[in-house]
Amino acid sequence: MSKMAIITGASQGLGLAFAEHLSQSGYTTVLIARTPSTVEKAAASIREKGGNAVSYAVDITDEREMTRLAEDIQKRYGTISILINNAGILHTETLENMPAEEIRYDLDVSLFGPVLTTKLFSPMIETGGKILFISSGFGLMGPAGYSVYSAAKGGMINFAESVKRELHKRKIGVYVAVPSDIDTPGFQMELAGLPEWMKVSQARGKPQPADKVAGRIMSRCSGNRFLIFSDPGVRMLHVVNHLVPGRIRDLILNAMFPRP
Ligand SMILES: NC(=O)c1ccc[n+]([C@@H]2O[C@H](COP(=O)([O-])OP(=O)(O)OC[C@H]3O[C@@H](n4cnc5c(N)ncnc54)[C@H](OP(=O)(O)O)[C@@H]3O)[C@@H](O)[C@H]2O)c1
Repeated sequence: MSKMAIITGASQGLGLAFAEHLSQSGYTTVLIARTPSTVEKAAASIREKGGNAVSYAVDITDEREMTRLAEDIQKRYGTISILINNAGILHTETLENMPAEEIRYDLDVSLFGPVLTTKLFSPMIETGGKILFISSGFGLMGPAGYSVYSAAKGGMINFAESVKRELHKRKIGVYVAVPSDIDTPGFQMELAGLPEWMKVSQARGKPQPADKVAGRIMSRCSGNRFLIFSDPGVRMLHVVNHLVPGRIRDLILNAMFPRP
């Protein structure tokens, strides 16, 4: 049987790009997203190109549905080789303008979901397998307007580090990608929903194509690496965080990212 890859948020954007990339490398891919029609369409598009793909319409925040899914995958396939915690959502807004319900759901999808998915699926990962988390450059620092997203993506990095230590005896590689802007439906929605004060200056270049980013991340997902940088801007952010004294770091980041 071919190697198995589980990818959350795989009906479009970066998740679908990972599924396509892995299916071209011979993996059987399990695509997870909430909307049945779009996730099945994505899996069908992979099968049409000769790949192996199955779809599951599941909300990663739903413990009961996710437990049932994990049991089903275990029964059908036994072990998995790679889990990609990709699903995440973002609402750009100041904290005071975010309803508590939206805050809770965003944290549920972007932090609790990956934690739950990892808890349920990591026991099935074969020795030498991998877990890849998709965080963000905004998991390394907190720009205004991204407080909840940054909390989730930063929390994800520390969570992944703990999991890496907990799983070391099983030789499971744990990696966190910290990408910058990627041309996906989610990114287009983010741009469309930016509050006025954020439109003034954007420290952003052209978004990268999702297939290029997925390929770059997968090619770096090996050995003792932990953080995976898919573009030089985020690597620079990481260097600023670690090497530049606090006051100067503040000046740099305030010049790069707008404040209300
Ligand atoms: N695009 C960027 O510029 C960028 C930059 C840095 C990091 N990232 C991160 O990369 C990841 C993918 O981003 P993207 O831009 O490709 O996103 P996207 O285009 O918005 O796609 C999100 C995917 O996640 C699924 N999803 C959302 N909520 C879910 C839930 N509760 N349960 C299961 N599936 C769910 C969506 O399908 P359904 O709606 O049908 O569930 C969809 O398949 C995210 O974690 C994002 O934070 C993106």
